[in-house]
Amino acid sequence: MGRLDGKMALITGGAQGLGACFARMFADEGAKVAVSDVNGDGAEATAAAVNERHPGKAFAFRHDVTSTADWEAALDGAAAAMGGINVLVNNAGIGVFGNIETETMESWRKCQEVDVDSIFIGTQLAMPYLKEAAPASIVNISSVAGLIADGNMLSYNVAKASVWMMSKSIALHCARAGYDIRCNSVHPVFTRTPIIDPLVALGGGGEDGECKLTRQIPLRRLGEPEDVGYAVLYLASDESRFVTAAEIKVDGGITAQ
Ligand SMILES: NC(=O)c1ccc[n+]([C@@H]2O[C@H](COP(=O)([O-])OP(=O)(O)OC[C@H]3O[C@@H](n4cnc5c(N)ncnc54)[C@H](O)[C@@H]3O)[C@@H](O)[C@H]2O)c1
Repeated sequence: MGRLDGKMALITGGAQGLGACFARMFADEGAKVAVSDVNGDGAEATAAAVNERHPGKAFAFRHDVTSTADWEAALDGAAAAMGGINVLVNNAGIGVFGNIETETMESWRKCQEVDVDSIFIGTQLAMPYLKEAAPASIVNISSVAGLIADGNMLSYNVAKASVWMMSKSIALHCARAGYDIRCNSVHPVFTRTPIIDPLVALGGGGEDGECKLTRQIPLRRLGEPEDVGYAVLYLASDESRFVTAAEIKVDGGITAQ
């Protein structure tokens, strides 16, 4: 028995990094996975790698999460391919640097559009699918940046805090409406994926750059994608059936300081 037997998961931003790792871990535990990404070739590659281990379990969709039409097509295609959708992992996201003096309206809007608006649009459109195939779970990938601030991450801080609060509002609505749909957020610290390359470069690159990041983390190392994957897997599974409107920090202790 896999921990995700019977689960049909749409994972956004699955071409690389965390999303690709979630797809592998989910399929290893018995789920079917629809991997979507604006990078369609990357989504195909992730699905192909999963299908090598578990033939027929993974499907790929080119999907820009800022586009309503793309959401409609991805949800429709994923539900048809998997037989429904009962797990939605809103993982696609971008990092943006800038402080109150340097941030531009353009970069601010882009960050909110990709990291926040996309989850509003997509989760609203996914609701009929999730209701149909309940019990269902929505997992939103926020960040420690949604809980603690950095002077040079203005729009990202605001975006990830919005994801944190949006997750609670969605969870409470579903609970009050009597839907068997849970919604939670996950808050990783610096985790070894391409998104942290600019941060490592800012710190001087290579091991020096990584050291500047790990020094801030009580457990003194970067996160690995699997560290986050185990939390997402738990929230997607029925093991977390009484957990909703919660936040799980996968942060090596950084937010406790
Ligand atoms: N890695 C970390 O240190 C870290 C820490 C905290 C939070 N996060 C969050 O985790 C999530 C995944 O990040 P990652 O580390 O895997 O980064 P990543 O850059 O490796 O992967 C992000 C993926 O999202 C996709 N994407 C970007 N814009 C998109 C769009 N408009 N539509 C569809 N797909 C789009 C990219 O093509 C890419 O495949 C993000 O929401 C990020 O903010 C990451």
